[in-house]
Amino acid sequence: MSILPVPRVGIVVVAAGSGTRLGAGGPKAFVGIDRHSILRHALDGVFSAPTAQVVIVAPDGREGDARTEALAAAGDRADLVTVVTGGATRQESVSAGLAALWGDVEVVLVHDAARALTPPEVFARVIAAVEAGAAGAIPVLPVVDTIKRVAGDEIVGVVDRSELASAQTPQGFRRDVLAAAYAAAMQDFTDDAALVAEAGHTVSAVPGHPLAFKITTAADLDRARHLVVAVPAVAAAPPRIGVGTDVHAFGGDGALWLAGLEWGGEQALSGHSDGDAVAHAIVDALLAAAGLGDIGTHFGTDQPQYAGAHADAFLGRTATILREAGWRVGNVSVQVQANRPRFAARRAEAERALSDALGGAPVSVSATTTDGLGFTGRGEGVSAYAVALVVPV
Ligand code: CTP
Ligand code: MG
Repeated sequence: MSILPVPRVGIVVVAAGSGTRLGAGGPKAFVGIDRHSILRHALDGVFSAPTAQVVIVAPDGREGDARTEALAAAGDRADLVTVVTGGATRQESVSAGLAALWGDVEVVLVHDAARALTPPEVFARVIAAVEAGAAGAIPVLPVVDTIKRVAGDEIVGVVDRSELASAQTPQGFRRDVLAAAYAAAMQDFTDDAALVAEAGHTVSAVPGHPLAFKITTAADLDRARHLVVAVPAVAAAPPRIGVGTDVHAFGGDGALWLAGLEWGGEQALSGHSDGDAVAHAIVDALLAAAGLGDIGTHFGTDQPQYAGAHADAFLGRTATILREAGWRVGNVSVQVQANRPRFAARRAEAERALSDALGGAPVSVSATTTDGLGFTGRGEGVSAYAVALVVPV
């Protein structure tokens, strides 16, 4: 076994944010740009920088997923990967990353996973500036818009934009400088350079890059998607299948809702939402197919907007979650096991309602009784089994 020298550079990739402004229904780092997530794209850039320890700061509970992405990006340099759990603020997440740096690391870069398309040359410029003696160096871009000072809806002054620059990441520092600044920090700053400047150090500017923009909103994600499709995928990812089941007992209040339809004169099902086992089985099958968890991950009972919600709300949101992760629904097949209601007369109507809720993907509904056996045979409830195919977009 060859012993490689321990790297002198460490790159902390903060990926623990929740992505509130993106609103993808899950942590931003795992949202797909193409067939690869934001985090994977960011790590591809990180691993094309000179050899460094790479510390990924992951959302609580998603450390395993972060490691999978890191190992895929690292190739034969898996031994450089460390994964730690992030905190409630970016600053806490950076702190957690700094605590995991190896003893020999002397230069630290802190990078937002959300700047997923940052080219390797930016990493190289920042490292070079710190190795040349700067206490800290950050990539900046000139501000192109005219900047106004406002109070409420009133313009109260102009700002000379020639004095301004917008800051990007990776931001690089001497390790001792950054560690001391973090240890002394008394308040929350929006970037690491501000914290180091507060500690009394001069931070240098190096040229940033337009591709190092931060994916913050849905419009930014669209922009990233357009940029990466310009680079042809090496090989299209295969479609994936998933399975989902659900059971609800009769005994709810009001009308029966099943397969996206209201069934007058039938006993209602009980559940946090409307008890539509068919819709819930489909949601689980779709999320499983895309590797995005299950219904509890995205529609917990702590979300009041889904209390009493019907199939269209669940399926519409699921289709959006899939789309944002780079998948479209291929088709869905679902089977209901129940004595009642009788589906034969309304099968086509149910298929249309479910398909419409999914944005048009074909849905097949079949129904069966269980010959009087089991809880469905005794008329205590219904069960549903769904299989779904999702296709990378
Ligand atoms: N970040 C982090 N830990 C936090 C908050 C943010 O590691 N507690 C990371 C994000 O994952 C991101 C970077 O810091 O890579 C920049 O933050 P931002 O773009 O604001 O991401 P989010 O906080 O996830 O998004 P939002 O503010 O919209 O919720
Ligand atoms: Mg944030």
